Amino acid sequence: MAKSIDPAGYGITKDKTGFVKSYESFFAPLVGKCISLLELGIEEGASLCYWRDYFENATIVGLDCSPVHVDDPLGMIHVYQGYQQDVDLLDRIVQEQAPDGFDVIIDDCSHIGRFARVSFWHLFQNHLKPGGLYAIEDWTTGYLRCWPDGRHYSRKPRLEHHRNERVYGLTSRLGRMASRLSIRSTIPSHTYGMVGFAKELLDGCFLGERAIPRSGGGRYFDYGITEIHINRNLVFVLKSREKDVNLIDATLTKDGNLTSSALRSIAEKG
Ligand SMILES: C[S@@+](CC[C@H](N)C(=O)[O-])C[C@H]1O[C@@H](n2cnc3c(N)ncnc32)[C@H](O)[C@@H]1O
Repeated sequence: MAKSIDPAGYGITKDKTGFVKSYESFFAPLVGKCISLLELGIEEGASLCYWRDYFENATIVGLDCSPVHVDDPLGMIHVYQGYQQDVDLLDRIVQEQAPDGFDVIIDDCSHIGRFARVSFWHLFQNHLKPGGLYAIEDWTTGYLRCWPDGRHYSRKPRLEHHRNERVYGLTSRLGRMASRLSIRSTIPSHTYGMVGFAKELLDGCFLGERAIPRSGGGRYFDYGITEIHINRNLVFVLKSREKDVNLIDATLTKDGNLTSSALRSIAEKG
């Protein structure tokens, strides 16, 4: 059964109840284990105390651009000051606190798409353990007009193939061709801020299988994302457990095979 602690007693500033409920089922198998957790954006540090008490045996690390002091007599919490988009700092934190990588990374930081994606791609590819979990909070800020990189949602659906089918008639060759061309057109989608970033993650999931061209070379991508779960509070991204097919961004030969240097890099990663 999933462990539950009421976040109310921790002085966490925003109402975390909904978030905590979302986390519980993913975190249940990790309770009591010697895991390492990194949270980006910690405000007063209350969420770090919550995670310390929730996991019990974990190394808890937090990062914030403002100075934060956390009362932690047992020394399980480690706090750094700096920006989530500073990848050199992220590398240093990993070296000092979790040289084998983190099991869990939580981004509750700037909620600005361009900063969140810098830390995501760097940490997910280099410093999240295989099978690890990366959670991104408050991704719907991208729908807010008042948010620095958000924008009010205004989508006007244009189902052009329906119109073309009406004009040309479904059965005619021209009609079928027009329909095919317009079906192939893009579907309107809100891509601002964190919403755009969350949708970018969908491209990263399973893209590898689809991006292999039939012939003529090209690129092969496998970012090692096996699952994405999204609800109104959170995006959960699960990393593949398979080290050797992970995180490939490689040029293909004309026959659609991986180049020898790509194969070498896969062998090195394995
Ligand atoms: C929503 S609060 C974090 C709340 C905390 N996780 C909790 O649950 O109590 C966001 C924090 O991110 C910090 N922050 C904002 N932009 C940042 C950035 N680019 N890099 C690092 N910290 C940032 C702010 O100083 C703020 O303390």
